[in-house]
Amino acid sequence: MPHKSKDLNTKCVHEGDLPNDQHSSIVSPIYFSTAFDYQDKSLSQYPRYFNTPNQIGLNKKVAALDNCDAGLVFASGMAAITTTLLGLLSSGDHMVIQNSIYGGTFNFVANHISDFGIEYDFTHGHNADDFAEKIKPNTKLIYIESPSNPLLEIVDFEAVVKMAQKHNALVVIDSTMGSPVNQLPAQYGVDVIIHSATKYMSGHSDILAGTVACSQPLCDKIAHRAKMLGGSLSDLTVWLLDRSIKTMGLRVSAQNTHALIMATWLEQQPQVLRVFYPGLKSHPDHDLAHAQMCGFGGVVSFELRDDFPAVAFLNNLKLIKRATSFAGVESTALIPALTSHALLNPEQRLAAGISDQLIRFSVGIESVEDLKNDIVQAF
Ligand SMILES: Cc1ncc(COP(=O)(O)O)c(C=O)c1O
Repeated sequence: MPHKSKDLNTKCVHEGDLPNDQHSSIVSPIYFSTAFDYQDKSLSQYPRYFNTPNQIGLNKKVAALDNCDAGLVFASGMAAITTTLLGLLSSGDHMVIQNSIYGGTFNFVANHISDFGIEYDFTHGHNADDFAEKIKPNTKLIYIESPSNPLLEIVDFEAVVKMAQKHNALVVIDSTMGSPVNQLPAQYGVDVIIHSATKYMSGHSDILAGTVACSQPLCDKIAHRAKMLGGSLSDLTVWLLDRSIKTMGLRVSAQNTHALIMATWLEQQPQVLRVFYPGLKSHPDHDLAHAQMCGFGGVVSFELRDDFPAVAFLNNLKLIKRATSFAGVESTALIPALTSHALLNPEQRLAAGISDQLIRFSVGIESVEDLKNDIVQAF
């Protein structure tokens, strides 16, 4: 279980606060200015340079949440992912990337990254050996996603980091599904921690954002590219995201509890073929998840039996909303084959273990009895 140097909820509420000496407000003000005096400053300030007062405050908070020295807040999770890869890799470099990951990341690597002269290999699994067998002399980066979207596979951080260090490769994780509440990959030596802040950090399905946390030298490298690619977040949204993060620990703890109850219950329903949730003993990576995480998150994926078509089931739900994205306080569900993984061809989906009957259920903070009743009437 990860240890935290300072209580997570305290960091969520206070880290990166902007002191307001003029009016003594306890809430940070918003600085909307896009222009700042440059006299006596070594670096000019500009929103696209990720260094307005509000951006600096939130950069500090996201770094602290993942126990890192430095952080950057982006306009989306994909901006954080693409900028990190293009910031840390150059033409001629090679990366090894997990096969079962968020569809947008898969698509960027499979269909775009070679335009930049960057080589890649997808793994055939998520164990350290699966990454090791794809290493080449020019491998500079290993990219993992844990828990993975949507099958919630767990990658062994310690084993992958050990293997990567032997080859002088960096390890980058998409830690969105875990959130800083449930796992701290930096404690295992993972170099760069990325989140789609659209998910648990925002938590209310109303903000699109992404974050990166890492060491200062790696952050400088990513920021160098970021300033050119221009994926920074507006100060109003930075402020809103900062406010949302204040309750992240409480929200995610409730979602952890509700999701475990729902996963356990779903496993007992005759209409359900299989449930994927790392908190269940039946999950193949349960022991690893238990050792590496302090909660298992709000997402439960499950496969319906063929005689209960997934599309009809989703259409019948009343309380649980049919929607893309996840991690909001409201419960939502989607069919990955039709949404997050629609850009993969059927063979790629099959290889990633994503069937047409698979449902990704994001458990919110509503009463679990109400959620069960909704599912029963939808069956
Ligand atoms: C695991 C994961 N990573 C990254 C992303 C991309 O984030 P965004 O939509 O904020 O660009 C998503 C989006 O669903 C995701 O689920």
